[in-house]
Amino acid sequence: MNNVEQTLSIIKPDAVERNLQDEIKQEFINKGFEIQKEKKIHISKQEAEQFYKVHETKPFYNELCSYLSSGPIVVMELSRENAVLENRKLMGATNPEDAEEGTIRKKYGISIDKNSVHGSDSLENAKIELDFFFKN
Ligand code: CDP
Ligand code: MG
Repeated sequence: MNNVEQTLSIIKPDAVERNLQDEIKQEFINKGFEIQKEKKIHISKQEAEQFYKVHETKPFYNELCSYLSSGPIVVMELSRENAVLENRKLMGATNPEDAEEGTIRKKYGISIDKNSVHGSDSLENAKIELDFFFKN
């Protein structure tokens, strides 16, 4: 079986601020992900609004976009078999309080908004999100 996929991962401002990026990158590597592309950037609120457009109607949208643009983030293209699903499993539940032991959000997340990582939720969205950050 060979179902190698690419997915987008973001190490969010709360984790970069605590200098956790190397530790979190190692979590991906330990689970067999290859980091194929990587950059540290600081996006504008408008870019965050574009990235999170699917959440436009949610009550947390404005805060979410302010937060993602509040400091540097590390965006990565991760590759492995079933990368989209395996990354979601490794990240854990959106709310760190609900995340399983051993997941990144359980280990490093502070709260539902400061949950340390983003990961694409489908192969289709992975392509769109990778293009957003890595297509010139
Ligand atoms: O990131 P994930 O796909 O697990 O969750 P989402 O439902 O797509 O929400 C996107 C992001 O919005 C989350 O990762 C949280 O940072 C934030 N969020 C929030 O601040 N408050 C909520 N009630 C739900 C999500
Ligand atoms: Mg999501």
